[in-house]
Amino acid sequence: MKYFTTTNASILQSSILHLGNTNANFTLMQYSGEICVYYIDRDPKIAAFVDSNKERAKELSLQYGGAVYASLDDALKNETFDAVTVATPSGLHGEAVIKAASYGKHSIVEKPIDVSIDAAKNMIRECRKNNVYLSCILQHRFDSSTRIVRQMMNDGLLGQLIFIHASLNINRPREYYKNSEWRGTFELDGGGVLMNQAIHYVDLLYHLGGEVEDVFSIQANLSHDYLAVEDVVSATLRFRNGAIGTLNATTSAPTKIGSRMEIVCENGYCVIEDHQLVRLSLYDTEKNPIKTSLSNHNVEEPSSHHLQFQDFFTSILNRREPLVTGEEGMVSLHLVHHIYSSAHTNQMVSLKENCI
Ligand SMILES: NC(=O)c1ccc[n+]([C@@H]2O[C@H](COP(=O)([O-])OP(=O)(O)OC[C@H]3O[C@@H](n4cnc5c(N)ncnc54)[C@H](O)[C@@H]3O)[C@@H](O)[C@H]2O)c1
Repeated sequence: MKYFTTTNASILQSSILHLGNTNANFTLMQYSGEICVYYIDRDPKIAAFVDSNKERAKELSLQYGGAVYASLDDALKNETFDAVTVATPSGLHGEAVIKAASYGKHSIVEKPIDVSIDAAKNMIRECRKNNVYLSCILQHRFDSSTRIVRQMMNDGLLGQLIFIHASLNINRPREYYKNSEWRGTFELDGGGVLMNQAIHYVDLLYHLGGEVEDVFSIQANLSHDYLAVEDVVSATLRFRNGAIGTLNATTSAPTKIGSRMEIVCENGYCVIEDHQLVRLSLYDTEKNPIKTSLSNHNVEEPSSHHLQFQDFFTSILNRREPLVTGEEGMVSLHLVHHIYSSAHTNQMVSLKENCI
């Protein structure tokens, strides 16, 4: 009997875990604002917290050390460090990364890379010009579920891709938008549920399904009448390989129902729920089931955010590209813009041009 087991989760993992040590600083780097980081013995340390709300930066500094600045300019002029982690409102990502690059600093920037395609292009160009690395945080590429399914696809175990369905049903109440006024604005959030929350699934559709040829979508605002942006979106995509993808997302669910991806292939079927691989069915060429096991899948591992930070810092130390480059971060932004364009024009939209 043929048998497939997901022990290879740890093999995939070891290709990412170069630094080896679990360091609280990696978690710290997920805080909002801008954080300037330098190295001692391969161990990243925080040089400064930067936040236009200086009190917020001060609180973090009191707890974790590091200087405090209200502007990245001042930190760049006064501190010695290697890289900046950028988690400011999405529409401000470009200016921070471009500034950091002009001082020769590497950047890791939260998703979306920015809300504007032009800003994203400039970020990529300026980082290349100044010979610094740029990584866009799309941490779900580092989930073990994503890595296992992608590896099986690359190894040909699943056969031809037929469908990928992605859905995200969550709730974002009024307080969420009140607490950070940039959220749900076109200027700084770039849109609603699609740009802010569902971009992770847009990225996973591309990461697992490959390049997209056409999109058709509809969207609405059903329960956030104080916002101008959408809170529900439904998109259908045709991949260049002929397979079809769907994305359904809302921030109007009664509570956090969660996320789900179904990957349907000629010889296999995978279900990922809330980023855990919960079903894996494989069939041989005669369509007989192959025994599978997920028992070794649920191994303890650092968060996906942590893994991406590790990859970024390793890329700087080893002078190699990060796994998720600026160009890779640009793909989901480009797709999101085309999904919006389809919803606005009520037309199928083709992605003929190269996005970079
Ligand atoms: N990868 C993920 O899963 C994930 C999750 C949450 C947020 N994000 C992204 O992180 C970014 C921040 O989101 P958030 O929810 O933490 O926002 P937030 O509003 O909680 O925090 C933003 C911080 O940036 C500071 N800030 C605003 N303008 C600034 C400026 N010009 N210079 C320096 N600091 C400035 C604010 O004072 C605040 O402290 C967004 O791009 C968002 O999409 C990603």
